[in-house]
Amino acid sequence: MALLQFEHSIPGNNMNPILKWPGGKRKLLPVLWELPCVQAWQKKPQRRYIEPFFGGGAVFFGLDTTGVACDIAEANPFARRFYATVQQQCEQLIACFQSWWGDRDCVSEAEFYQLRSWLNETQHPALFYLLSQACFNGLIRINAAGAFNSSYGLKTDGQPNWIVIDYAGLREASRKLQGVGIHREAFRVLFMATELDLSNTLIYCDPPYLPRTPTASFSSYSIPWNEKRLQALVSLLWRCCSRGATVIVSERDTPVTRTYLTNWKIQPVELNHSIGCTAASRVKEAELIAIHGPV
Ligand SMILES: C[S@@+](CC[C@H](N)C(=O)[O-])C[C@H]1O[C@@H](n2cnc3c(N)ncnc32)[C@H](O)[C@@H]1O
Repeated sequence: MALLQFEHSIPGNNMNPILKWPGGKRKLLPVLWELPCVQAWQKKPQRRYIEPFFGGGAVFFGLDTTGVACDIAEANPFARRFYATVQQQCEQLIACFQSWWGDRDCVSEAEFYQLRSWLNETQHPALFYLLSQACFNGLIRINAAGAFNSSYGLKTDGQPNWIVIDYAGLREASRKLQGVGIHREAFRVLFMATELDLSNTLIYCDPPYLPRTPTASFSSYSIPWNEKRLQALVSLLWRCCSRGATVIVSERDTPVTRTYLTNWKIQPVELNHSIGCTAASRVKEAELIAIHGPV
């Protein structure tokens, strides 16, 4: 909806993501806020913000979206339904937790798999919220059939992961999501955007990483991300730039990635990745942000 509405105003301010997400970009926020193009965008009237690979939405939640028309897209159907429920039926979701879950703070392995079956039968957003916190290394996995298939995880000390029902965070997220267009498919949202005047628009794109080798694939996503998709994305983003948009892309910094981003302003960044519960599995990834559009 929001794609066609320039003028609506969204109350909200910056906050933490409501879901923990593998590859979440919260640590990138200080870098992004310093970028001249982001500072220039913040002074524009009737602004629009598009985040087509939303995940945990660290950048959206970190951004002051007051008065900004926002559109987000996320292919993961459980996450999408969760955000839509937080947006439209937050009090019902909270009532569901209060009456059914109470103040419990963890699940056993057997309960996890029981709840996982229920989630796959019912798609209930409350179950997704719980299981996203209890799963192995916080890795939210969807298999090719579209089922949630993350496995049960323990902390390094062998204890179950804590489950926190953040009532205040859910309500805050609900306020921030009011008026936001929640879409399924990144490419479709960007394609629709190319029909518009994008001169006051900031697009932040954080697609899945390209696999390290052409034969590897990142199994957290049901649709594998590959060079062909990155190439298609970059050409669509070019079209958005030609309509006036400022675009920022996050990707793994490799020679291959850079071949698709020639003529973009490249800024290398190093992020400590929090996918993994042990120090050894928390790798430093060479990442980049690629920027295009008016300053
Ligand atoms: C690297 S994550 C984004 C993380 C996010 N920036 C954050 O801070 O949490 C990439 C996201 O893109 C989603 N995705 C992959 N392909 C997509 C597509 N074609 N349309 C919409 N979302 C997609 C994945 O499900 C995943 O959540």
